[in-house]
Parts: sequence; structure tokens; C-alpha cells
Amino acid sequence: MVRTLIWDLPTRLFHWALASSFTFAWLTSDGDRWRSIHVFLGYLILGLVVFRLVWGFAGSHFSRFASFWFGPGEALAYLKQVATRKAPRHVGHNPTGSLAIYTLLALAVVVGLTGILTLGGDEQQGIAAGWLSFSQVEWLKDLHELGANLMLAVVFGHITGVVVESVLHHENLARSMVTGFKMADPGTPRAKPHTWVAACMLLAMLGFGGWWFAYAIDRQIDDQSWHINMEDGTGEAPHVKFVGKTLPDDPLWRDECGSCHAVFYPALLPSRSWQKIMAEQDQHFGTDLGLDTETVAAVLQFMVDNAAEKHAVEAAYKIEKSIPSAETPLRITETPYWMKKHREIAASDWANPLVMSKTNCAACHTDADAGTFEDGAMHIPKAPAAAASSAASRR
Ligand code: HEC
Ligand code: HEC
Repeated sequence: MVRTLIWDLPTRLFHWALASSFTFAWLTSDGDRWRSIHVFLGYLILGLVVFRLVWGFAGSHFSRFASFWFGPGEALAYLKQVATRKAPRHVGHNPTGSLAIYTLLALAVVVGLTGILTLGGDEQQGIAAGWLSFSQVEWLKDLHELGANLMLAVVFGHITGVVVESVLHHENLARSMVTGFKMADPGTPRAKPHTWVAACMLLAMLGFGGWWFAYAIDRQIDDQSWHINMEDGTGEAPHVKFVGKTLPDDPLWRDECGSCHAVFYPALLPSRSWQKIMAEQDQHFGTDLGLDTETVAAVLQFMVDNAAEKHAVEAAYKIEKSIPSAETPLRITETPYWMKKHREIAASDWANPLVMSKTNCAACHTDADAGTFEDGAMHIPKAPAAAASSAASRR
């Protein structure tokens, strides 16, 4: 047996890049705080899979699919042999490991594509923005999560397999995926290092990352001419730079509805609610708005055109879905979705002088005025006293 290069450099780089991308994509999947990183990793994984498919034909002997083209039957048979400790050693991928590889590649494609579609439908962001509506992507979102969970299960199976094989054949398989070398018979095909291909891969990944974080995200913000205010460092979501789309606006509506309180964007209530609010404008929460019929009609038109049932933003879709069809709420703050989303906010946060009222949406949603209510634009302000003491403790 001689020390032989089995895994070329691109295969090893692919392996560890995929493993770390998947790990971090998993860790950044909850909530929206790390979404720009999560989405970046998703694209990276798709790119890596495309590379691997090409490399399955163009790579060194043991990287080629032809060297590990085993069927599920063979994979099962090999498992049985492992159980009886009679499994022969494979220098390249063994039949069970091969099945894990094909499953992971297929799942990565499913998870990547459903991720793009979910982002496009649920958040109206990314390349598939606007392709599908919120209701259409619900099952795609489930599939995205299911696929990721299955991937995790296969990853654990794969790691178990690596450990078992390493023990069974007295070799460190994880280390050989780092160094590329294994002990093999002298006649075993040797891998070429393919250093240049690996260097190009690395450059492509770094270039994509640089472009994504330095340019793509910032440009998106400039396009929206809207910024998350992170100056005080208390921002909830420093890494979510995704912002909502620009919604239609109307100066007359702003004039008439923004003088006593900040405007409430029409997408936050269904049109029947706005109709009722405008019909009762002479007794608007205890005040008479004193609007003439023409103004009422013009403002109402804008509100109906952009009401919740138009599903312009995620919040609109969710609010509309939450209201029983027989009800016509006059308050956003009394819709089931709003109540559910704000139930867990502490009394002390409501009492904060920077908040004071439930209807002071802009205190916590920096994009309240734009009407988008993106998760990434939300942060609960610290009460001045608490902010001062935490600043002091930082010092
Ligand atoms: C003269 C002052 C005034 C003007 C002008 C005004 N409002 Fe109000 N509005 C109020 C008051 C007062 C409340 C109750 C606030 C509270 O309970 O915090 C309110 C509450 C609301 C609420 C309920 C908020 C919630 O979810 O709890 C909506 C919706 C609303 N206004 C819509 C409008 C619209 C639409 C217009 C323009 C046609 C408008 N308002 C113009 C005074 C005004
Ligand atoms: C005290 C701070 C605070 C105020 C004031 C506030 N919100 Fe929120 N809001 C939050 C928090 C925190 C969440 C996130 C809850 C979660 O993570 O599920 C949230 C979530 C939401 C969401 C869901 C976003 C999504 O799609 O996931 C909407 C819509 C929303 N708020 C609308 C409003 C509106 C409209 C007002 C004013 C009438 C308002 N909020 C006032 C703190 C606030």
C-alpha cells in the first residue's frame, strides 16, 4: 500500500465549502435577522452543486460519478455488510456514501430553488420577487424547510457513516478529505491536484461574497432610498439589509390622515374597514375629521386601491387572512394578526416614553411610514434610562 492522492483539491474545497455553507445557512435560518447571509449561502450552495455536477464528469478518477455510480440496492447491501463487519474497503466512495452524496445534491437543489421562490413570494425579494403571491408560496416554504431538515438528517447519516467506516477500516476518512491522501494499492488511479481549478473556485466564491456584501445589498438599499437606522447600534437586525418594495403613495391621503397621528398605510386593513372609517369620518375615534364628500371619495379611492386584499406586502396578506370575513375592524391594533404579533412585547416597552402608544408604529418599525413593515426594519427602542445605563456598562 502506498500513500496516494485520491481526492483532488477542487473536490475537497467543494466538500468543506458545502459543509460550512450548509451549517451556517442552518444557523441563520431562524427569523430574519441574518437573512442576507442566509440567502447568500443559499446561492453559494447552488453554485457549489452546479460545480460538483460538472466535476462529476471532469474531475479526477474518484471524483467522477462513474467511479461511484451505485444503485440504492447496492447501498443497502453495503449497509448490511457494515452491520456484519464484512464490508469491503472502498478507496473512493462506498455505495452507501454515494447514495448520501446523490441525495444531498438533489436536496440542495430542491432547497435552493424553493428558497429563491419563497423569498420572491413571501418577502417579494431576490430574483423571483413578484413571481408568486404570499398564498402561492406557502407550500414551497414548507418544502424548503422539509428539504433542509432532510438534508440535516442525511448529513448526520453521512457523518455516522464516516465514523463507522473509519473505525472499521482503521483509517481517518475525515482527515483524508482534508489532505486528499489515502493508503491504496500501487495500481490505484491517482488524482491530479487541479490546483488551478481550486484557485479559480476560491476566487469565484470570494468575488461573489465581496460583490454580495459590498455592492448588491447596498445598492438595493439605495434603490429604495431608505435606510435602517443603525447609528445607535441598538438595531435589531444589523445584517438584514433587505428592504421592502416602494409602495404607491398619495399626497392628499398623507395631508388628511397624517396630521393627528402618523399615516396608517392602506395595506394594513381591508377595504371594507377603510370604507367604514371614511363613512364615519365625522365621528373618527371621538373627533370629527370634517372632510367634504370629494376629499372622502379621493382618499378612499387610494385606500381601496392599496388595501390589504391587494397583498402588496407580507403584513397585508397576513392581516387580511386573520380577519374573519364577517368582521370589519376599525383598528389595525384589533386585528388578530396584529394582536398575535405584539402579544409578547413587554409592558415596559409599551411604557417607554419613546413608544407610549400602540399606534405609534414608527417607534418600533422604521419603515412604518413606507408601509412595508419588513421584519428587518423592526427594532424596539430602549428607554432613554436603560440605553444610558447599557452605554455606561459598555464603557
Ligand atoms: C383630527 C385628528 C385625526 C385625523 C385628521 C385622523 N385621525 Fe385617525 N385617529 C385619530 C385618533 C384620536 C385616533 C385614536 C388613536 C388611539 O387610540 O391611539 C385615531 C385612530 C385611527 C385608526 C386606528 C388605529 C389603530 O389601529 O388603533 C385608524 C386606522 C385611523 N385613525 C385612520 C385614519 C385615517 C384613514 C385618517 C384620514 C382619513 C385619519 N385617521 C385622520 C385622530 C385623527
Ligand atoms: C413597541 C414596539 C412596537 C410598536 C409600537 C408596534 N410594533 Fe409592530 N412589531 C413589533 C415587534 C417586536 C414585532 C415582531 C414580532 C415577531 O417577531 O413576531 C412586530 C411585528 C409587526 C408586524 C409583523 C411583521 C411581519 O410580517 O412579520 C406588523 C405587520 C406590525 N408589527 C405592524 C405594526 C403596526 C401597524 C403598528 C402600529 C399600529 C405596530 N406594529 C406597532 C413591535 C412594535
